[in-house]
Amino acid sequence: MKNKQSMSNLADFSSRLIAWQKIHGRHDLPWQNTQDPYAIWVSEIMLQQTQVTAVIGYYAKFMARFPDIASLANATQEEVLQHWSGLGYYSRARNLHNAAQTIMDDHDGKFPQDFEKIQTLSGIGRSTAAAIASFAFQQNQTILDGNVKRVLARHFVIEGWTGTPKIEKQLWALAESLVPKQDMVAYTQGLMDLGATICTRSKPKCERCPIKASCQALAKNKTKELPTSKPKKTIPQKQTTMLLILDGNEVMLEKRPASGIWGGLWSLPEISMEEIASEVALGRFSLEVESEEPLESIQHVFTHFKLEILPQPLSVTNRTRQTNIPNTIWLPIEEAIGAALPTPVRNILLHLKR
Ligand code: ADE
Repeated sequence: MKNKQSMSNLADFSSRLIAWQKIHGRHDLPWQNTQDPYAIWVSEIMLQQTQVTAVIGYYAKFMARFPDIASLANATQEEVLQHWSGLGYYSRARNLHNAAQTIMDDHDGKFPQDFEKIQTLSGIGRSTAAAIASFAFQQNQTILDGNVKRVLARHFVIEGWTGTPKIEKQLWALAESLVPKQDMVAYTQGLMDLGATICTRSKPKCERCPIKASCQALAKNKTKELPTSKPKKTIPQKQTTMLLILDGNEVMLEKRPASGIWGGLWSLPEISMEEIASEVALGRFSLEVESEEPLESIQHVFTHFKLEILPQPLSVTNRTRQTNIPNTIWLPIEEAIGAALPTPVRNILLHLKR
């Protein structure tokens, strides 16, 4: 590092990372120290959703059974999946198998070197193609996996969830601008190693980071907040109409199925918004009813959705009310309030009493 100013320039970013990787990075992983694109490809696919320590054993067995593209292409899918069994995300294995056959059929059995062609193979996206092209063919291609996104979002204080197209585009442009002219293997591996060992999601080891001097998140005390976490999913809004079927002071309750929301609780009969309350009462419960003004709707929030409940009072008008309707019970409102009811249903009944 020559002076303070040059610490922040981009060429310096890669040179510091490369120098660090050569001393402190990982050098003895089973897919390193080879330029065999097949060996590198298999490792990159296994490492897509799985940590290095979990991959190592599977990798050795997989490579022993399928040492080259032809042996993988000629195997049955059953056998490939068998060797993947336990790693999870089995579409990775199916894609790998499928791509091996494509390479045999369309590329004379040789892993393509053209960056665009690599990306046409099943299961190989832009970042994985770049990792293979860098490690196997020393091409100056840009990787941007989850680890790298975290490193860049912190180093350059990129706010906003890294999964949004806008932020992703920004990160790709930034990552591309950082790619060095030489030492691609050490640089690419260095980015991966930095993300995995130093710039970790929680408790990053900033004091040991080779690029801490120019890290804006560190300077602004923002390493904890960055990268911005994925926004909480907005949960869907559902609607239902609950029938408050009243006969004098008594209300009809219906038992809910044993499983699902409010399983086994007593509740009010429900209909969809499209059904006409009085017709349902007449059909399903053989009751003649008169519709009253709907009560104010209630919003109830579950973990996975919100439910707007529209309580629809119906007064029974026929004198000989049926008593043997399955899963139903008639109770005086007072008593119903004390039954095993979901809270919003109890609140509806309490409101009715007032
Ligand atoms: N994660 C993805 N690719 C990797 C590699 N080549 N080495 C270590 N971790 C990785």
